[in-house]
This record gives sequence, structure tokens and C-alpha cells, in this order.
Amino acid sequence: MRTETAPDQTPTRLADYRAPDWLIDRVSLVFDLAANATRVRSTIAFRRNGSGTSSGPADLELFGRKLTLVSAEVDGQDVMDRVETDREGLRLAGPLPDSFTWTCETEIDPEANTELEGLYMSKRMYCTQCEAEGFRKITYYPDRPDVMAVFDVRIEADIVSQPILLSNGNPVEQGRLPGGRHFAEWHDPHPKPSYLFALVAGDLISHDDTFTTASGRNVDLKIYVRPGDEAKCAYAMDVLKRSMRWDEEAYGLEYDLDLFMIVAVDDFNMGAMENKGLNIFNSKYVLASPETATDLDFELIESIIAHEYFHNWTGNRITCRDWFQLCLKEGLTVFRDQQFSGDMRSAAQQRIGDVQALRARQFREDAGPLAHPVRPEEYVEINNFYTATVYEKGAEVIRMLHTLIGPEAYRKGTDLYFQRHDGQACTIEDWIQVFEDATGRDLSQFALWYRQAGTPKVHVSGDWEETGGVYTLTLTQELPETPGQTDKAPQVLPLAVGLLGHDGAELMPTTVLEMTEGTQTFRFPSLPAEPVVSFNRGFSAPVIVERAQTDAERAFLLAHDTDPFARWEAGRRYAIDLACRVIDGAPVDAQWTDASAKLLSDPDLDPAFKAMALGAPGADEMAAEVHRRGGLVDPDAVHAAQRAMHASLGTALQGPLTETYHAMQVPGPYTPDAADAAKRALANRCLGLLAETSADGLALAEAQFVQADNMTQSMTALRALVHNDAPGAADALTAFHDRWRQDPLVIDKWLSLQASAPGDTALERVRALTDHPSFDWTNPNKFRSLVGVFAMANPTAFHAADGSGYAFFTDWLIKLDGHNPQTTARLAGAFESWRRYTQDRQDLIGAQLGRIAAVETLSKNTREIVERIQGA
Ligand code: TRP
Ligand code: ZN
Repeated sequence: MRTETAPDQTPTRLADYRAPDWLIDRVSLVFDLAANATRVRSTIAFRRNGSGTSSGPADLELFGRKLTLVSAEVDGQDVMDRVETDREGLRLAGPLPDSFTWTCETEIDPEANTELEGLYMSKRMYCTQCEAEGFRKITYYPDRPDVMAVFDVRIEADIVSQPILLSNGNPVEQGRLPGGRHFAEWHDPHPKPSYLFALVAGDLISHDDTFTTASGRNVDLKIYVRPGDEAKCAYAMDVLKRSMRWDEEAYGLEYDLDLFMIVAVDDFNMGAMENKGLNIFNSKYVLASPETATDLDFELIESIIAHEYFHNWTGNRITCRDWFQLCLKEGLTVFRDQQFSGDMRSAAQQRIGDVQALRARQFREDAGPLAHPVRPEEYVEINNFYTATVYEKGAEVIRMLHTLIGPEAYRKGTDLYFQRHDGQACTIEDWIQVFEDATGRDLSQFALWYRQAGTPKVHVSGDWEETGGVYTLTLTQELPETPGQTDKAPQVLPLAVGLLGHDGAELMPTTVLEMTEGTQTFRFPSLPAEPVVSFNRGFSAPVIVERAQTDAERAFLLAHDTDPFARWEAGRRYAIDLACRVIDGAPVDAQWTDASAKLLSDPDLDPAFKAMALGAPGADEMAAEVHRRGGLVDPDAVHAAQRAMHASLGTALQGPLTETYHAMQVPGPYTPDAADAAKRALANRCLGLLAETSADGLALAEAQFVQADNMTQSMTALRALVHNDAPGAADALTAFHDRWRQDPLVIDKWLSLQASAPGDTALERVRALTDHPSFDWTNPNKFRSLVGVFAMANPTAFHAADGSGYAFFTDWLIKLDGHNPQTTARLAGAFESWRRYTQDRQDLIGAQLGRIAAVETLSKNTREIVERIQGA
């Protein structure tokens, strides 16, 4: 039974949106920082919305959580006797004038704030996280994104332990105070919602640079880190400058303050936060050196720095009316960071990587109990909706729009968006409208992408008429049911198609077919011969393609398709089909290893492409496919199939893999450049296959581990040793730990690598690591690296038939929930695909979900996720 004090699980609905009763002209905040008793004095100039008519509500309602109210005044008069508070906020009883000044003082305890939301402490540093609803843990406020205000902030703190005091906007003044304290004042001229407020105070060092905008304005750039980390900021700074330039060139958008700051924080629930002028980052996405960061880390830093910077316009200057519109800023900003990374690196590789991530996270979400539309219509806890659907599918929807209307019309639309809506809190309707106005097109059917959940399936069949050389493509779209949504209308699908001749020549270059009906045929007349169809090139529509294709056709497309994505996709489909047969007991046929050998030796192919195309599909990809075909997944069988496929490759291609491994070694000092990273990716892919199948391979890994002068090489070698139980694995792990024990981000890698290592003793190893002095369960990066990675990336141990993996994971979720609900709820998503697995596994997971749901004091966050998963 739930007690009276259990959090309220009542959903908030889009349909219930009402404009705010009160608006704010200006707010001033004074922080008197103390670890356990910080005082926040807030002065707010309120104005009745639609004022002039005193017809609004009599009362003032403000959100506030875990606050101690010390004083409250209206226009200088004490109103404490008119104020009522409860766990969600405060009500000031009217009557109230049409405009007035509210002043209140609250006391908060940053050190006791383990949720990492609101004002909290990370080591000895104060920092804030206000999105989505964290500001209400700082002071009473209309904490909703459609209330925007100009902020003035004053921070007072101890000068020795907090020499640096930061907030949004531009610095105004600073100085000494009696008693070893000092102050700093900040002014942010751009009206903003409270979720973009930020404050940082601590002992920090900045890595500085400057940027001159297109219109000639000088901007100071500062990346603040803990002393000792200042040498690891150069890459982040370089990316920041490239992002600023790119946004000017690609979207015509310039930075709008004199200062742009980034702060790296060790304790953080997510990747990073776009607070106006003061982005706060998980240190994992800022700090990098060749010795400590891998190629993947550099790539992620590039995309996340860009993402947060791009929010300055898509999110901050134009924000969301309410949290249902989250994809307005997130989908768009992800699309923008994907465009940026595609321009910085190879667009084809970027696309393949983005599609892999979309399928792994978003298609899975869409196919399970947590499926929801890109713009959800209700939520219990908004923090649970920072999802792959809102972010990644949200980006796909914009990519489709871009494909449908073309780059020029897209730019016309975005120009209109920034011109029309600057300074406003907007909706998806506003976004669609600018493209309708810019193109004259009716986008009402296209807008269904925002409302209907589920991944569309497209069934493809073709017909060839020799006379007249007519090829007819018949397409049917099917929209699956998702929780709460059954009958769905057909969506607009931009499907890029190319036709190839049997000699590999292109008979028809890429053409975008616009599908708008349930079933549609497209005729291609006057072809010289029956074509091979390259379908959904570039993954132009985020759909599942159902199409009968032979291995031979796939091998042909893998060898000849002119579209790099479609080429890669052909190889993947081939491998996945084979994987399904191997799971059912078939051997790995030589045709596939031959096709892989061809791929490896093709001189025209990029090493990055080869690295992505080589090998068996991932365990999760296989599981999804087995389930999609109507089967139940046995995780051990999936793992065995993957091993068998790798063994065939490793054995059949030992020579070529070894040669490629050597040929791809990059001489000279490490650089994170895409070209070098691509060579390392291919070499390391070869190393992985070789180490999995031979003692020679393990010897190569051993040698690489000893010689490595960068983290990419070192980690890959160590993983090969540990995941294949090499004789030297234990010593290598110890040596690695001894070398890096002082570097928390490297220790995270050391934990993850072991957490994902398969084998009979996997759980014992992970359990032992939870007692290791280098593990700190209260730090989200550490928790995710060990417990999270175990659940998400160690399928055989997590799904152990005796249920031990599930029980272990659940114990930790329950423990973390009392401390940090946001991170717990996110990790509980590891159970979302439970209906994919064999009945014995489902029963075991069902029991663990029940255990979590039975916790009386369970957070609203975790309860919402667990109950939705249970409802599957
Ligand atoms: N808006 C952030 C981004 O996409 C993400 C975010 C939302 C976040 N809530 C958060 C980050 C809480 C950290 C903590 O860039
Ligand atoms: Zn974002």
C-alpha cells in the first residue's frame, strides 16, 4: 500500500495547458552560500497576465520544493500570515494589485541535495541543475518555461573555498566582504525561463580563448575546470569555436553575449545543460587528452559541446511553451548537432552511426511499454521524457522535413522561425507554421509524426514488366499499436530510392518518393533491364523496411550500391539474417565470410566504413530482430551465435585481418582527427576479432596494451584481454588501475570494461567491484559505469537463467532511488524490453519489477517508469 506521504502520481496533460496568470518583468536573486544553510533572497516584479483588466485570479501560486520559507513580503509589507505552503509550493491569498513586488527569503541545504537537481554540491563546488523543474528547489517561483524574465544575480561566498562565482549573462561587479567572504554580481539581459538559470561557485581554473563573431563582436570564452584539469580543455575549446562559426554559416545565427562559459562538473545526472551563457557539463564531455580519452570520447565531446552551444538559439532565445514541446528544442538541436558532426567528419559515417544509435535506443523504446509520441500528451514526471524518442526521433522528423522541402526552403523556414519567434516560448504548431508559410505547403499530415508513436513498417514489393521496361514498386505502410494509441492514420514518408543495373551502374539516381497513403505504387518506365532497388537511401525515413531479399542481392548491394548508407545497410541486413539462422542452429556459411573478405580488401572503401560493416550484429540488435520475427529471445543463444560468427571470421580471415591490423597502425603522435580515428577503428575491429579466436590475437592485444600511447589503443587492448579471459588480463587490469587511480573518468572506463565482460564469474566480479575503493555509488558516472553497464551491456550475465543478474541490479536500483531518483528511473529502463525474452526470464524480471513497485517510498520518477514497464 502506498502511504499518504508517497508522491502524487497524477499525470499532467497537454490538453490542460493554461497561460500563466502572472508574468515577470525582472527578478533579482541574492545567494548567501553555505553548505547546509544557503539563504536565497528573491525579488520578483510580477504583473498580471493580460493586465489592465483586474479579472485574473485573486491569488498568487508559486512552485517550491524542499524549501524553508524565512520571510515573504509584497511591496515591502510582511505577508507571512497570508501564505500557505505544501510539498509542491505556496499560495499567497489575494487580493493583489495588477503589479507588485514579491520578496521572499528561503533557506536550502545544498550539501544534503543528493538528487543533483536544484542547488547542490559536487565535491566542494556549488552548482545548479534547473531543467526541467529544479529551480523550484532554489526559491518559490512560477517555474514553467513560458514565464520568461531578466535575471540579476548576486552571489556571496567564502573567498578561499569559492574563489570563482559564476552565473548567467555578463559580469557586473565583484568585491570583498567582511569575514573572509566576497561577492559577484551578474546580469543576463536576455529574458529566460527559470530552467536556464545557473550558478557555480568553487575553486576553479579557466582555460581561456576568444571568438570574433561574423559581425565583428568579440566574445570571451572560458572553460572552467578543477585545478589540475586545465590541460584537458583544448579540444573542447576548439570544438566550441568551430560550433560558433558553423552556426553562423549554416543557420545565420550569432552568439549574443560578451562571454560564453562552460563548467565541468563530476556529479551530473546527464550529459550537459545549456544554461544561458553558462553551460554546465558532465566532466566526461569536456575533459580530454590523448592519454585519457578515446576516439569515441572525442567524438562525443564534439557533438555535445556543439549541441549545448546550438541551444543558445534553439532552446534559449526561442524556448518551449510547456514541457510537452520539449522536442521543439531537443529534436531540432540534435538535428543541428548531427548536421555539424556530419560537416566536421564524414557525413556518411555520421549518418550510419546516428541510425545505429536510433535503432538501438529509439526503435527499442518505440516497440516497448515506454513508447510515446515525439510530443507526448501526458506525463507524470517530466524528467522521464528526456528520451530517445523526443531527442533522436525528434531529430529524424526534422531531417524528413529537410528532405521533403529541400535545403533552401528549410533555411527559409528556419530564418522565419528565428525572426518571428525570437524571445518567445513556442509550440510545435509554431514550428510547423513557419515551414507552411515559407513553402506554401500543407504540412498537416506531416505533423502526425509528432502525435503518433511507434515505428512505421514499410512493406516493399517489386514487379518487372519486360515490355516497356517498367518496374513497379508497391509500398504499404503499417503503423503498430502503442500504449494508449491504436488506429493510426498513414504518415508522410520521404523514401529515397535508387535503381541499379546488374553491372552496378546507376539506372536511376536517388529520387525521393513521397508516400502519403496506406498503400501506394510507383512506376519507373523505360528501363533497359530489371533493376536492383536501393531503398530508403540515407535512411531518409526512420522506418522498418520489410522486404524479401536474397543473400545474393544483399551481397550485390554491399559491393555496388552508390549510397554509402544503403551499402552499409545491405551488409547489416545480410549479417542479421544470418545471425537469425545461426541462432536457430544453422552453421555460418562461407558466402558470408567471403563477402566480408571482399569488403576488407576493397581498396575504394573507407576504413571507417569497413570498421562499421565488419562483424556480427550486436546482441541487442539480434534480440530485437528475433522478437520482430515473432520469436522469444534466449540471451545465451544470441551470445553463442555472435561468438560463432566471429569465430568464422577470425578463422577464415586470420591472414587478412592480421594484415589489415598492421596496415592500419597510425604512425606518429596521436590526433583525434576523423581520418586517424577511422584507421584505429578498423585496426581495433580486426584486433577484436583476432583476439576472440586465437592466441596470436591475444598476443597482439598484449603487445598493444604495453605499447599504447593513447587511451583508444590502451582500452581496446585491455578489453580484448579481459573479455577473452586472456592469461595476462588480471595483471593488465591492475597495472591500468594503478596508473589511473587518480583520474575518475579513466576509472569509469576501467569499471565499464569489467562490467561488460562476459563469463560465468561476471556477476561475482561486478559484485566485488561494488566494494572496491574506486567505486562510489553516489556518483552517477560511477554508478552508470558499473551497475548500468552491467545491465545494458552484459546480456549473458544480466539475463543469467537463475535471475541473479536481475536481483543484483534491482537491489542497486532500490538503493539509488532513495538518493537520486532521476538517474534511477533512467536506468530502470534496462528492463523495458523484458517481453522480448523467454518466459522464464519474463517471470524473473516481472518479480523484480514487483519488488521495486512495492517500495513504499519509491520516487515518482521510478514509479512511473516501473509501472509503465509492468503494464506491458
Ligand atoms: N537540456 C539538456 C540537453 O539536452 C538535457 C537535460 C535535461 C539535462 N535535464 C537535465 C542535463 C538534467 C542534466 C541534468 O542538452
Ligand atoms: Zn539538448
